[in-house]
Amino acid sequence: MSLRRGAGPAPIVVDRREEAEIALAREIIALVQERRRVVIGLATGSTPAGVYREIARLRAEERIDFGAVETFNLDEYLDLPRDHAHTFARWTRERFHAPLGISSERAHCPPSDDYESQIRDAGGIDLQILGIGRNGHIAFNEPGSTRESRTREVELHAWTREDAAAAFGGLESVPHRAMTMGVATILEARKLRVLAFGPRKVEIMKRVLEDPIGPEIPATFLREHRDLVLWLDREAAARI
Ligand code: PGA
Repeated sequence: MSLRRGAGPAPIVVDRREEAEIALAREIIALVQERRRVVIGLATGSTPAGVYREIARLRAEERIDFGAVETFNLDEYLDLPRDHAHTFARWTRERFHAPLGISSERAHCPPSDDYESQIRDAGGIDLQILGIGRNGHIAFNEPGSTRESRTREVELHAWTREDAAAAFGGLESVPHRAMTMGVATILEARKLRVLAFGPRKVEIMKRVLEDPIGPEIPATFLREHRDLVLWLDREAAARI
């Protein structure tokens, strides 16, 4: 792995994505066992789904109490009814909060006018789970998002909408706007745990790791974080 000096930690390349999912699930379970009151930032979509499945499985096996865990979702589509099947709030309730017994008062989701102060009041995010978009976005911080950006409304990038089209049953049904935590918000999490799998991520992962850090590829900002772990499977790491 040839990363430039000072360019962030080397990624961990796994043969099968399940290895990364299990490692991250175990880390989260260990944090909750140790401290009970843990604040977790949640990503949604196909990338983190296996981590949530594994956490639910381990928690049932080991009877770990998630009742004091608090969560903050990274982002949410705008212009959808709150209970729409494709809201991220509903997605995380079904796959994370409900199986783990986390009450809705502890499950924070955008849109919200005071999301940043809610995060501060909770003591900040201990561990943030993240995926990376094909265009280098983190959450819905699309290309052009600055290092200083905070929770705000954004216009979704064409590739982001294309990637969501199948789930929505067609591009025309995909919202154009969203609310997202900002890059600065994400970088304040004490631990960042990032996953990228499959051949669709091969081009962008090369750029995320090797391009100059800047808003053109917002995921490059992750390299500035002091406690970052990035897992790639062999397919996503093919050009690194
Ligand atoms: P994916 O997206 O899970 O659909 O690959 C990752 C992301 O956009 O963060």
